[in-house]
Amino acid sequence: MTTDTKNGEVINDEQQAETIADAVVALAGSSQTHRRLLEVYRQIEGDTYLEQDIQTLQTCVSDNKPYWDICCVLAAFATLRNPKAYLEIGVRRGRSTSVVAALNPRIDLYLFDLWHPDYAGVANPGPDFVHKQLDRVGHCGKREFYSGYSQETVPAFFKQTDRPDLFSMVTVDGDHRDEGARRDLDNVYTVLAPGGLLVFDDIVHPTYPTLHDTWRGFAVCHSDLYTRENMSDATGTALGIRS
Ligand SMILES: C[S@@+](CC[C@H](N)C(=O)[O-])C[C@H]1O[C@@H](n2cnc3c(N)ncnc32)[C@H](O)[C@@H]1O
Repeated sequence: MTTDTKNGEVINDEQQAETIADAVVALAGSSQTHRRLLEVYRQIEGDTYLEQDIQTLQTCVSDNKPYWDICCVLAAFATLRNPKAYLEIGVRRGRSTSVVAALNPRIDLYLFDLWHPDYAGVANPGPDFVHKQLDRVGHCGKREFYSGYSQETVPAFFKQTDRPDLFSMVTVDGDHRDEGARRDLDNVYTVLAPGGLLVFDDIVHPTYPTLHDTWRGFAVCHSDLYTRENMSDATGTALGIRS
């Protein structure tokens, strides 16, 4: 089906998804995005991981080096597509959520985490802490927190009648075990809007060597998902745009 025009030419849904994916990757890896992320990271309360992120981005900016991770992708898509609602599995201390909120302060946030104590060796305090992070970046949209195992809380949330029908921006960065991650991916795909972004993190994380296979296994089941992967930067990030 034809839906859009590019340079005066009519393009179809598949071409449009490819075009969005290419535009997101190009902007994600740019100095413009790196500078914007540095501004956000300096506003929120950090930890040792955020300090490493800041050092990495400062080097990228000073060397004009292309680089993209999960937060670069989210910042790029939020800038290009102005999404109205965001669903995130795996919030932790609100780094990725704060990036989305800073770029789109009015966005409605639907946030899922079980707040695993001391996740990755750092305090993981929960919703009150994330509320403060979001206040720091000027977020003024709706915030809904769902605490517990995402494999249970997400399907329960989808049964609510007052939720958005579809989401144009979704992150899966919670359960890093293969089965749990795959269930999260399958669950959220049912609400991913046409033209929407799905981000999946840590595809080359040394602690989770099979997570890339999990992503690939999921992606090949969805011919309407146009994917890009970065195996070089950070712990690896995958994204898909639905046609
Ligand atoms: C990698 S961290 C998320 C990082 C965050 N997206 C960011 O970029 O800053 C993963 C989070 O997922 C949560 N988590 C792990 N397994 C989960 C599960 N089965 N259901 C819900 N949350 C889970 C942990 O508590 C942790 O806070």
